[in-house]
Amino acid sequence: NWTMNDFIDMQIAKIREQVGDKKVLLGLSGGVDSSVVGVLLHRAIGDQLVSIFVDHGLLRKGEVEQVMESLGGKFGLNIIQVDAKDRFMSKLAGVSDPEKKRKIIGNEFIQVFDEEATKLNGIDFLAQGTLYTDIIESGTSTATTIKSHHNVGGLPEDMQFSLIEPLNTLFKDEVRDLGEKLGMPYELVWRQPFPGPGLGIRVLGEVTEDKLKIVRDSDLILREEFALAGLDKTVWQYFTVLPGIRSVGVMGDGRTYDYTVGIRAVNSIDGMTADFSRIPWDILQKVSVRIVNEVDHVNRIVYDITSKPPSTVEWE
Ligand code: XMP
Repeated sequence: NWTMNDFIDMQIAKIREQVGDKKVLLGLSGGVDSSVVGVLLHRAIGDQLVSIFVDHGLLRKGEVEQVMESLGGKFGLNIIQVDAKDRFMSKLAGVSDPEKKRKIIGNEFIQVFDEEATKLNGIDFLAQGTLYTDIIESGTSTATTIKSHHNVGGLPEDMQFSLIEPLNTLFKDEVRDLGEKLGMPYELVWRQPFPGPGLGIRVLGEVTEDKLKIVRDSDLILREEFALAGLDKTVWQYFTVLPGIRSVGVMGDGRTYDYTVGIRAVNSIDGMTADFSRIPWDILQKVSVRIVNEVDHVNRIVYDITSKPPSTVEWE
């Protein structure tokens, strides 16, 4: 009769015994796993936990504020928020190849994290949101390598930490259950999958501030309308992309020559294969009208009706 509450009690006792009066470092990404680890560890050891949250400027609208308000405010975690937007933007300037962009964002992430970690003294432990599935996928227990591509940094090279991985016996649904038991808000616990490189791979080609703004604003409209229609509970992942093509439109009595925004919505179990979601026309129409009216420089909306394979979920 194992319950999630027993798990919480057991983990808290275990973490306290392991950590003693030492300090633990955690990289927050805004995602479910690192957030749950943060709240669990904070319950166990309070301010002996220090978290670093790197803002690379590629998160969705409102996410940084949400994490800071919820985890930093309500839950009281000690979070060092690092504004690295300009660093990422200058590294990405002139780069349009998707894989190059991924590498740049991943490397810069690790570098910023390492720099911040090095400034801190007397840290003995590094906490990570490694799941049971991460360990299975990597064969043995080299989970840090997988996570370092995807999420929050690897181990700073010249620092010696012992790892704390309290979720490494859990599956994703159990982590969400744990998050709910810990009193975490719906938006954090049920956050849809989001790629580490963030909006950097949803602006196709070169990433600029202007283009990021279009993706951020249109994505927020899509999320609002999906939530109103209850689709946020049934669609696995949904977002907007900016392919970068412009086409002719008409507004008032003038011709426009503006961007096309693509809408992607898929259902999937694990992201390996995916079906495009059959979204009702009237909801797509509402989203389309709102994006064209509310987001500058957009005059056309298309809906992606390909599944994976042959497409991928992301456009890059
Ligand atoms: P694809 O586009 O490969 O996406 O069909 C499958 C799932 O993986 C996510 N994805 C990524 N996640 N780093 C990540 O952490 C990445 O570079 C990356 N690329 C894709 C995607 O959002 C989807 O959930």
